[in-house]
Amino acid sequence: MESPFKETILKGKVALLTGGGSGIGFEISTQFGRHGASIAIMGRRQNILDAAVDSLRSQGIPAIGLVGDVRKREDAARVLESTIKHYGRLDILVNAAAGNFLVAAEDLSPNGFRTVIDIDSVGTFTMCHEALKYLKKGEQGKGPARGGTILNISATLHYTASWYQIHVAAAKAAVDSITRSLALEWGTDYDIRVNGIAPGPIGGTPGMSKLAPEEMKGQFKESIPLYKLGEKWDIAMAALYLASDAGKYVNGTTLIVDGGIWLSRPRHIAKETVKELSRAVELRSRTSPTGLPTSKL
Ligand code: COA
Repeated sequence: MESPFKETILKGKVALLTGGGSGIGFEISTQFGRHGASIAIMGRRQNILDAAVDSLRSQGIPAIGLVGDVRKREDAARVLESTIKHYGRLDILVNAAAGNFLVAAEDLSPNGFRTVIDIDSVGTFTMCHEALKYLKKGEQGKGPARGGTILNISATLHYTASWYQIHVAAAKAAVDSITRSLALEWGTDYDIRVNGIAPGPIGGTPGMSKLAPEEMKGQFKESIPLYKLGEKWDIAMAALYLASDAGKYVNGTTLIVDGGIWLSRPRHIAKETVKELSRAVELRSRTSPTGLPTSKL
């Protein structure tokens, strides 16, 4: 789908994306690149990075891939240094790396729980912490000192509760909290905006294939208010809005991009049936001031 944004909205910006080589992260890398940014991707697997960088470069997007695990502080520091060495600056950090698997709470070991917290929550904090010194220098020397911006990819699982996702829900709740705390502190001190995006079910992602197998998809769509899954593109457009000057007064928010699904419950009763039932009840209460069926009076 064609982007509604101008091709130049991220012109001259440098973006580093963890988990930017696949899934939602890769779509954000691509769209940021198509809108003028130079891209650095951090990920654990060299082959995934190589394929992603090849694809970006084939579209004329400046791109580099840097191997690293967000769970390791030394990897975070090294990847940031390499990004600065290569491009000379950093304007946007996107924390899109995440770990996920379905498991019942009683079958999840404390180490399994910790592994996802380490990747999603501690990894996000570590990347933000190591990136700060570069982000706060983002635009120095060119007019008034201005900071860069951070985007943390979260989820909606923890707004209520989700089956077999205790570790991920806890990890993403922490990510949302990190987003707000950093927005407050770094917004005030360095003019760095920190926001999040909470994607709902997005087609064609590793998350979706793990959490909703192919055979369940039809049934799943029926329960979504807009009757369709989101696309990676939808998340990338939200990211463009938040990372560009379009979102220059947005700080500390986590934008939900889920078609309204987190608000919804399964449609147990068809809308038409509800209307009929409702009319019948109204009619009865009009006939009987007590609201009881007239037959009982
Ligand atoms: N069910 C239950 N426990 C699991 C599990 C699963 N499917 N996968 C990992 N664990 C547990 C392990 O048992 C281990 O705990 P233990 O030591 O008590 O046995 C702990 O988690 C660490 O496992 P390990 O395989 O060493 O972790 P890892 O660091 O190699 O990788 C992930 C863990 C989560 C990162 C891995 O699933 C992964 O690489 N996922 C790809 C990224 C992804 O899921 N992206 C989707 C984002 S929505």
